[in-house]
Amino acid sequence: MMTTAAGRVAVVTGANKGIGYFIALQLGVSGIFEHIVLGCRDVSRGEAALATMKPLLPSTVKASCLPLTIGDSQSHLSFRTKLEELLGPPAKVDVLVNNGAIAFKNSDPTPFTEQTKPTLDINFRGTVEFTETMLPLLRQAGKHTRDSRIVNVASQSGYLSQLSPELQQQFASPTLTMPELKALIDQFEKDVQAGTHISKGWSNSNYGISKLGLIAATKIWAREEATNQITVNASCPGYCDTDMSSHKGPRPPEEGAKNAVLPATMENPPTGEFFSDLKVRQW
Ligand SMILES: NC(=O)c1ccc[n+]([C@@H]2O[C@H](COP(=O)([O-])OP(=O)(O)OC[C@H]3O[C@@H](n4cnc5c(N)ncnc54)[C@H](OP(=O)(O)O)[C@@H]3O)[C@@H](O)[C@H]2O)c1
Repeated sequence: MMTTAAGRVAVVTGANKGIGYFIALQLGVSGIFEHIVLGCRDVSRGEAALATMKPLLPSTVKASCLPLTIGDSQSHLSFRTKLEELLGPPAKVDVLVNNGAIAFKNSDPTPFTEQTKPTLDINFRGTVEFTETMLPLLRQAGKHTRDSRIVNVASQSGYLSQLSPELQQQFASPTLTMPELKALIDQFEKDVQAGTHISKGWSNSNYGISKLGLIAATKIWAREEATNQITVNASCPGYCDTDMSSHKGPRPPEEGAKNAVLPATMENPPTGEFFSDLKVRQW
């Protein structure tokens, strides 16, 4: 386990319900954070979650909720500003768990081509941009404790082999840069709009490509942020009983949450890995 440190702060996005709620709760009861901050796009839902969570936390652990809409640049910046005010100087974040995401239901009548942009904007582009906004605070923690962490809640749906061998090679390249990854994801969107994504080697899953992109981003940050003492891992909670799965998943969300809590709290975490069923798995 991470050693206890006074002032250790964890931020969890999309924490008002489902898996994110339990990630925040479990980080809070772990005894290794002093302050848990829930990022929620609807503050009233966030405050309600906080009211349920607080009695379950040790009395020494502070929990707060701040408004955060992933995919809205202004909201990302205002979240950081409000967080800095809340924490006071020198503000730092020890653990960021990027959990908030969307998935269109199979029954949703929105055409596939119209689901692409909103899915990528939240699950990939917004999550990447929000993380970039938070990196100065994570680096600050890395400087002080030499142990700062990002956990990206991805999915098995982001598996690499859904791509053609050529695209697999590009996404898994150990020299892939963030601008190159963003361009690849933009290309997927263009190919979907042109009706050519299948023939060009992409899968037929907006959600799958959004999570694949997030796993690729995890590996890039793991390489780039190593010197800043930040480990970056991705996780899959498994098929869980939440609103996202229309409660069809068999796994309780508190069990799924453990796959993000493990890399967020374990001693000597690896970096750039993908956790599923509480083990490091091949992408
Ligand atoms: N459930 C599964 O079987 C499963 C499987 C694999 C991976 N996952 C991943 O696990 C994570 C949690 O999923 P879940 O099942 O707990 O989903 P969920 O019950 O639908 O909860 C999603 C959370 O994300 C928030 N959110 C969505 N869009 C947001 C945005 N733009 N900005 C800020 N917050 C946003 C939601 O807020 P609102 O309450 O305001 O909507 C909610 O708090 C997601 O990353 C998901 O892709 C889930």
